[in-house]
Amino acid sequence: MQSTYDELPYEDLAFFHTHPSNLAVVATLCGLSPPPVDECRVLELGCGSGFNLLAMSQSLPGARLVGFDLSPLQIEAGRRMADEIGAANVDLRIGDIGGIDAALGQFDYIVAHGVLSWVAPELRERIFQLCRRHLQPDGIAYLSYNTDPGWHQRRILRDALRFHAAADGTPLQRVRHARAMLERMAGEIPDQDSDYVRFLRREVEALRDDSDAYVFHEFLESHNHPLRFEAFADLAQANGLRYFGEARYGTSAFAQDGALRYALDAVSDDLLRQEQYHDLLRNRHFRQSLICHAEQQPTWKLAPRSRGALVVISRAEPLPSEETDARTFRLHGETEVRVRDPVVVAILDVLCEMWPLSMSMRSLIGMTAERVRAAELAPGVPVELVIASTIVAGYGWGYWHLYAHSPPAATEPGEMPRASPLARLCAARSPSVTNLLQRPVELSAEQQAVLQRLDGRTSAAELAASLAMAPEAIGRVLRELAECYLLQLDRTP
Ligand SMILES: C[S@@+](CC[C@H](N)C(=O)[O-])C[C@H]1O[C@@H](n2cnc3c(N)ncnc32)[C@H](O)[C@@H]1O
Repeated sequence: MQSTYDELPYEDLAFFHTHPSNLAVVATLCGLSPPPVDECRVLELGCGSGFNLLAMSQSLPGARLVGFDLSPLQIEAGRRMADEIGAANVDLRIGDIGGIDAALGQFDYIVAHGVLSWVAPELRERIFQLCRRHLQPDGIAYLSYNTDPGWHQRRILRDALRFHAAADGTPLQRVRHARAMLERMAGEIPDQDSDYVRFLRREVEALRDDSDAYVFHEFLESHNHPLRFEAFADLAQANGLRYFGEARYGTSAFAQDGALRYALDAVSDDLLRQEQYHDLLRNRHFRQSLICHAEQQPTWKLAPRSRGALVVISRAEPLPSEETDARTFRLHGETEVRVRDPVVVAILDVLCEMWPLSMSMRSLIGMTAERVRAAELAPGVPVELVIASTIVAGYGWGYWHLYAHSPPAATEPGEMPRASPLARLCAARSPSVTNLLQRPVELSAEQQAVLQRLDGRTSAAELAASLAMAPEAIGRVLRELAECYLLQLDRTP
């Protein structure tokens, strides 16, 4: 049976927060011992074209990655891509989640991104049952869904668009019809200053940048059922599972600090209730929740023995500053922060020095300890403990990135540079590619031209000649691509 996803498929996107490495980091920070990532087995439910799994296959060549989707058009497109890039460890199947058989076996990680709210409500419970049946005892599942209270507000727009454009035409015609109505109405709103008008304007503006597929499946599709966090946690519990945190670690209630921490503690000492209050305070509309078997016992504390399992790969650059009591850094090549805390400053100084190399969290603690003067810390507190908890807190603020594996990436171009086959395929079509950390990279025209030619059999000199570029320019672009984690390690013996 043809679905609307066959008529208007989602774009091919990879989602960093679903990567087993990220799931393992959050689980480890919550005191769990998740399965090792390098050779893990991953099941993705409602995987679309499977692009997310194809991207994982580039950073996890030893993993076994299985995807299910109802839409033949999307799965067939994914299979063609898998063939083109030789991703033999990706198995994409056309199938109904509801019909998955016990014989499929067990997985270390299960991912369902954008599925729980977008299927018929009767299938929701089935997804939890599948997690219970197909997850290894120490496995982790990721389920994302639309939630309230944020969707109470967005529902206004969905109702209006469905009222106008729900029934007639193809999905694409209905999106165009809905967009035209919004644009016509947006300019005619009478009371320009009310909160409601401000909300409407913001939403209309955001929708202008969203893809047709997103607008259709979010606002016009028959299934989009937001799920309150409390109901999500109940469903998990009823099916022998346990909620323990968000895939965006810093958005979990337990990761909040300052006044918000105080407010959440004051209102309840129950973690699940705190999560629900947190949604209320933030008007959250989307969750990326992690669950494990109910028998697992999260502590929400990083065990000191697990520090060695975490890897830090994060870009930081010092920026000039006139101030004497604060330093300024650029993080991840984009955000600027002013920092006073001496431990945070010392961590960032180490990151500036180490980039683009990876290091274990243990090494980061050791190198930071050498820079922090004991006089700057509260007396009697072990310096390593302060640094470790600052690394965890800073990860929650988005200051630096943690991983649970080292991707097979070359941080130097080498003699015969090689980009991942998926990145080369994507670069041949557009400047948007996914790197070996499962993160999006927007390439310049120069980088795009070079990347698609990095087959591991062409030297920098040959590239320069074929692209009519100066050798220095090629050298610079290759270094930039290596720093973006787009080049593979040379595996030839
Ligand atoms: C909102 S899309 C999300 C796709 C992808 N995970 C992403 O985030 O880009 C929902 C996907 O679930 C698939 N789907 C819906 N019902 C399904 C079912 N019963 N069994 C398998 N796949 C299903 C759809 O075909 C669609 O690809």
